[in-house]
Amino acid sequence: MTSLTRRRFVQQVALAAAATALPLRASEKMAVNGARLRQHLEGLSVFGRPPGGTFADGVSRTAYSEADVAGRQYVLGLMRDAGLDPTLDPAGNIFALRPGSEAAAKPILFGSHIDSVKGGGNFDGDVGSLSAIEVVQTLNENRVATRHPLQAVVWAAEESNYGSGLAGSRAGAGLLEEGELDRIQDGVTKADAIRKIGGAPERIQEARRAPGWFTSYLELHIEQGGKLDKAGIPIGVVEGIVSFDDYEVTVRGFANHAGTTPMPERKDALIAASQMVVAVRDIVTSEPGAQVGTVGQMQITPGAPNVIPGVVRFTIDLRDLSSQKVARIAEKLRIRLTELAHSTGTEVEFRQTAHVEGAQADPAIQQAIAAAAGELGLRHITLPSGAGHDAQNMARLGPMGMIFVPSVDGISHSPREFTRWDDVANGANVLMHTILRLDRA
Ligand code: HGY
Ligand code: MN
Ligand code: MN
Repeated sequence: MTSLTRRRFVQQVALAAAATALPLRASEKMAVNGARLRQHLEGLSVFGRPPGGTFADGVSRTAYSEADVAGRQYVLGLMRDAGLDPTLDPAGNIFALRPGSEAAAKPILFGSHIDSVKGGGNFDGDVGSLSAIEVVQTLNENRVATRHPLQAVVWAAEESNYGSGLAGSRAGAGLLEEGELDRIQDGVTKADAIRKIGGAPERIQEARRAPGWFTSYLELHIEQGGKLDKAGIPIGVVEGIVSFDDYEVTVRGFANHAGTTPMPERKDALIAASQMVVAVRDIVTSEPGAQVGTVGQMQITPGAPNVIPGVVRFTIDLRDLSSQKVARIAEKLRIRLTELAHSTGTEVEFRQTAHVEGAQADPAIQQAIAAAAGELGLRHITLPSGAGHDAQNMARLGPMGMIFVPSVDGISHSPREFTRWDDVANGANVLMHTILRLDRA
């Protein structure tokens, strides 16, 4: 059977189910195929795996990379196997629609991302993206119809790149930064990078969706922190997602000979930058609360062992549930970095590269998630998300909810990132039964 006829056949099944919808009783204990979901996660993990590595060596499937292009092709294939007909929007976001019995009903949207950080793990984003496909496949196999169309989504470029993250969902929410597509990274403009994954940057505005285009947005994701794992609780109901601001700091000193330049005469950009990095930690921790600040990336120019660093560039990632607190900390930092530049004879530029507003999860969706977990006999707690997610951009367009599953030892953005396979299946089952609850609401 060709893929087209198979797709057509499975779509007919989905539509036929619309006519002969099974009584919900039969779908109540319906469960995803955990083995198939694991197989798909392991299948995706090869794209960006270190050469000669294994699943345990994690992945570097960074946004717009060859590995990302290949991983996306793999996911498109899985969507087609599930009878979906995926399409790309101009930002490269992948959407796939399963028809509902009420064609006029707005879709229930759910998914995540598949790009990773450099040296990342095989669960961040992947669990939510592949579970979305698994849910569709399971509903088809059980011939369960929904009233609302179901829209699976794989967001493009969620991880930080070109100075900011959540690029695909920000395009969807109309939150791209001024001139963002002209930014250059490794010699490639962001516009060309978007073309590489099949997007159309010249039409990027068409990726923007209107508020209310979906009834609910759901994202299943690993917690990436240790609360659930420590408490031995399988399901997290996310109450809110942090706000985060990204900055790029450029420190300009004077490159000179490491041997002939007396210490008191130096304008060493790295000495200044090092004091600034410590200042980030000191200012962020100078007031009570759960705010965090990180310097994760630094470039030293010219970067030769026998040349005094002339220019140093580094990133600052500031987060808190309160965007006002993030802005206040950033202002304190701007003042302090200026003082440190002055005292080290250097110049400093403190440029904001991204602001992503935090978001509260919709109370009704939180209740639906908790009820679905309860129905499946799974203990659950509510908790905030210290990680940023595409869901916080979708919250600008309609009600959103997130489901967390445990990260062993709270490790993430690391090859050691791991979620137990039964927890992955639990999360997918809660996603599926939450969708069915929202569909009936
Ligand atoms: O950085 C984050 O919080 C997310 O993993 N992109
Ligand atoms: Mn991540
Ligand atoms: Mn993620």
